[in-house]
Amino acid sequence: MSIRLDVVTIFPDYLAPLDLSLIGKARREGLVDLHVHDLRDFTHDRHRTVDDTPFGGGAGMVMKPQPWAEALDHVLAQPLVSGNVVDMASTRRTQEGVGHAVPRLIVPGPGGVPFSQALAHELAAEAWLAFACGRYEGLDERVYEHAAERMPVTVVSLGDYVLNGGEVAVLAMVEAIVRLVPGVVGNAESLVEESHEDGLLEYPVYTKPAVWDDRGTERPVPPILLSGNHCAIAQWRHQQRLERTAARRPDLLHPSATGGALAALDGR
Ligand code: ADE
Repeated sequence: MSIRLDVVTIFPDYLAPLDLSLIGKARREGLVDLHVHDLRDFTHDRHRTVDDTPFGGGAGMVMKPQPWAEALDHVLAQPLVSGNVVDMASTRRTQEGVGHAVPRLIVPGPGGVPFSQALAHELAAEAWLAFACGRYEGLDERVYEHAAERMPVTVVSLGDYVLNGGEVAVLAMVEAIVRLVPGVVGNAESLVEESHEDGLLEYPVYTKPAVWDDRGTERPVPPILLSGNHCAIAQWRHQQRLERTAARRPDLLHPSATGGALAALDGR
């Protein structure tokens, strides 16, 4: 199985890191089929204009609808081929009654639904994702109407802060999504005990030396980890996860958010 990703941006170079490391390897192995499109290729004026002043006044510029509509239509016209298992849920019925795959469109923005490990799993199961990187004050609202008539659209926020544009958010989301595509992370077991997989943060980890001489200060590894008692180690790690989560992310332990992890902390 592989996943197709299309990214539309005015800064294609921003996505260059997607050639590196795990994602670069996944691309070379054919597990990820990534295409980056320059929004300015869909403009028709000498200055390749993508923005204009907002109706009603206000600060900043708004991205024009026409280049976005043409860019998204261009992405939609791409065939979903070789290795991309076509997800029937993302298959649009054309007027001729012929099935035609469409991507799920993700628009990064501070006003979106929060990105999470659960959403990363959901998106990793799609055959085709497209990302629309906005800049300035955002996209003309009619772009969303145009897109939503053609494909499922989700506005997604990385967190409660404002970035200059969607590119950094796409880098983060693509990394979180691609590592969940089967075959991308060699040891699938390493995915299981990570933070956010089960509502708890991960336990602390240590490597050699067993006692580290930190310029005169001796820093030993917790003795339990050297005991060889796997059952006791598992219990210690679980306790560490609970304590860490309580200290750093008490919101995760609230029953309504986690389905009862707080009860686990109480030993109930
Ligand atoms: N673009 C601007 N701010 C953003 C955020 N917080 N998350 C995702 N995309 C953004």
